[in-house]
Parts: sequence; structure tokens; C-alpha cells
Amino acid sequence: MKGIVLTVLLFVFWVSFVLSANDNIKKRQNAMQEVRESVKVLFPIAKGKSDYDDFLVISMLEQMLNAAKPYASYFPNEQEVASHSEAADTIWTDRSGFNNSVIKFISDIEFALNAEPESLEDFKPMFSKITENCQSCHQVYRLK
Ligand code: HEC
Repeated sequence: MKGIVLTVLLFVFWVSFVLSANDNIKKRQNAMQEVRESVKVLFPIAKGKSDYDDFLVISMLEQMLNAAKPYASYFPNEQEVASHSEAADTIWTDRSGFNNSVIKFISDIEFALNAEPESLEDFKPMFSKITENCQSCHQVYRLK
């Protein structure tokens, strides 16, 4: 009897462990999808292909900020065993470097939000600073 109870308990622990790992992976992939959606709208604006719309720019930047802010917290202290994640080992072997990359990404978005760019000329350099973060973080912390 004790054996069965123990087995059931272990199973319950295992399931909740796996589920919470999946939960984190979902959250961070959703966050990155939101970031991508914002970039999709902002990119043609920054290229001058769509009319400059300061309201749209601010709301997309806000969406990106909301996705980026909790991003680091979706990575538990212990690396999870998951095959459907593109998170690289370096996130865990160089945690402070990863956290700093997230912080830099957030602060570049916040800089643009606080500056409230009202023209393409103002917005362009801010947007390229923000998007430099994608490459530089993915190169080190995302599996390809
Ligand atoms: C601080 C690091 C960091 C920054 C900055 C960053 N990313 Fe990511 N991104 C990641 C990591 C890590 C993953 C893989 C996460 C996973 O699969 O668990 C990822 C995954 C993605 C994905 C795939 C999501 C999915 O559904 O699997 C997209 C799309 C993406 N990033 C777009 C972007 C764009 C666009 C930018 C810049 C505007 C950006 N990212 C900035 C770290 C970052």
C-alpha cells in the first residue's frame, strides 16, 4: 500500500514538474511572438514604407515592453528538460549575462517610450537600437 501511495505521489510530482516546465516555455514563446508581432508592424514604419503613426508606434512599443519585462522570470533556476525549446544552455551557464541582455532590451524599449518619437527621423535610430538586441541575444542564448 505504501508503495502505491508513493508511486502515485511521485507521479503527481513528476506531472506537475513537467507541466510547469511546459508552462514556462509557452510563456516565453508567447512573449517572443508578441515581440515579433510588434516588430512586424514597426519595421515598415521605420523603413518609411508605412506612414509614420506615433500612436501606433507607442502602442507597439508598449506591447513589446510588456512582453519583455517578465521575460527573464520564465526561465527557472534549474534548466528544464524540454525538446521543444530553443533556449540555449548558455542561459543557465551565464545567467547574469542573459539577465543583462534582457535588461538592456527593456531599457532600449523604455528609452524610446520615454522619448515619445514624433517623427520617422526620431524613431529610426531608436528602433535600430531596439532590434540590435534580437540578434545579439539570439546569437548567444537561442539555439538555431
Ligand atoms: C535577452 C534575449 C532575447 C532578446 C533581446 C530577444 N530574444 Fe527572441 N528569443 C530568445 C530566446 C532565449 C528564445 C528561445 C526561447 C525558447 O524557445 O524557449 C527566443 C525565441 C524567439 C522567437 C521564437 C518564438 C517561438 O515561438 O518559439 C522569436 C520569433 C523571437 N525570439 C523574436 C525576437 C525578436 C523579433 C526580438 C527583437 C525585437 C527578440 N526576439 C529579442 C531571447 C531573446
